[in-house]
Amino acid sequence: MTLTQQPNHAQTEMSIENLKNALSSLPPGAPEALVSDSFVKPLLEALGFGKAECYPEYGTDGRDAVDFAARKNKPDDLFHHTKSAPFLLVEVKGQNINLSEGSPSHQATQRQIERYLLSSTCKTAKWGIITNSTYIQLFCRHGKVVFPATVNLQIKLDNIAEIISELRHKIDNTHRALSVCVYNNKGGVGKTTTLINLAGTLYKRGKKVLIVDFDSQSDTTLSLKLSPAKVCLSECLKDTRLDIRNAIVPFSLTAKGKLIHVFDVIPADSKLEDYTHYENAQKIQRGISRLRDLLKIFLNEYDYILIDCPTQWLFFSQSGVYASDVVLIPTKHNGLTSLYNAAKVVEKLIPEIRQVRKDGAPKALPIFFNGEKINDAARHMVNSEIGKIIECNKNLLPYFYPKYRRGTADKTIFEIPAYASVANAAFSHVPAVFMNKTVLDHYDRLAKEYFLHG
Ligand SMILES: Nc1ncnc2c1ncn2[C@@H]1O[C@H](COP(=O)(O)OP(=O)(O)OP(=O)(O)O)[C@@H](O)[C@H]1O
Ligand SMILES: [Mg+2]
Repeated sequence: MTLTQQPNHAQTEMSIENLKNALSSLPPGAPEALVSDSFVKPLLEALGFGKAECYPEYGTDGRDAVDFAARKNKPDDLFHHTKSAPFLLVEVKGQNINLSEGSPSHQATQRQIERYLLSSTCKTAKWGIITNSTYIQLFCRHGKVVFPATVNLQIKLDNIAEIISELRHKIDNTHRALSVCVYNNKGGVGKTTTLINLAGTLYKRGKKVLIVDFDSQSDTTLSLKLSPAKVCLSECLKDTRLDIRNAIVPFSLTAKGKLIHVFDVIPADSKLEDYTHYENAQKIQRGISRLRDLLKIFLNEYDYILIDCPTQWLFFSQSGVYASDVVLIPTKHNGLTSLYNAAKVVEKLIPEIRQVRKDGAPKALPIFFNGEKINDAARHMVNSEIGKIIECNKNLLPYFYPKYRRGTADKTIFEIPAYASVANAAFSHVPAVFMNKTVLDHYDRLAKEYFLHG
């Protein structure tokens, strides 16, 4: 086999047999070095990486090293020689470390692989694995976002082949797009405004963006002054023969007399309203997973798929969250219900969807405050209210205070202030980021805070 050839079926079967043998010969409580040597090396082979395509103790930022980095060789670029452009990272633990779902070590190891995936030497890495040979979980990186690509899987002799096939399928089909739903279970917090301005900002940063207006109110569609195409979203939902590509409408702006394509939109249409009725929504084949299925063909065509949906936790918002890798949650510092609803999204609604999806996603991104200036008194009040929310569920802390660490009680929450030009943009049908430099700077900071890497 040459260095770039794909292994054939027999080789794959053999590598899985090797992995099973390795697993059954591991002594209980195997320490990290043994798990690395006897389990992770054959694991990487079963995932399609030859010995010369894996590198142990791969340096990341500072003095940290991740246990393995892997990347397919190219004829003129052998990974173990150049050590450049890693694709997959593996953080290994011994069996004495409890990696069961939600355990403190599982959470700490997730943070560790996230840190490695975001380190300056691993910018090309798309995938991260954490394993102690008893549990294994795959994570995907897109820009600054790291999200679960599988649930935390318990490894057994009789499911290891299935696990390898799932991991391999994902790794071999790495997508270009990150799907983002902008959602809070509270209305009027700036979901649509955030989505439109984020789309404009990402375009300005060279990204190809598709907006999906999955809200029968059509706010996104109307504020961009678009109309549905001949084939519309509501028809695509029920008629599986229609091609959703035909539902795309380009959003363009005129600059110096020239028409410039900014991003693509799948507009909302009036018939979407029908699905606000439970009985009609029930008739859609595959229910809330239908939107995700429809959008799959775009995963290699766009960098970002941004989904707008309404507030009520019904068909539209459940579908939007189901179709996403991550959920961006705008809140208002002076709107207590928006904070309590953000907590509800993180601790109840997203887990409901995860339970159905069974692949660990979507993940909530930390909340941000949208609109209105915050003075010290207001900040004090909002912090005290968030304190109460976190007191009830300590797991919510990173979703409210992502910079909070033991020793440095940093309670910074990202903010987009209120601007008249943001509010007025809907009337001029141009996203505010194209009309006001200060507004662009704010949304640029938002894009960098949550999505863009380095
Ligand atoms: N940063 C901002 N500065 C000024 N006005 C803003 C800002 N963000 C949102 N708004 C205004 O607040 C109002 C509500 O915003 P938006 O429609 O985006 O909220 P929403 O969460 O999508 O609402 P809905 O629940 O109805 O879908 C709009 O009038 C919008 O122009
Ligand atoms: Mg809206």
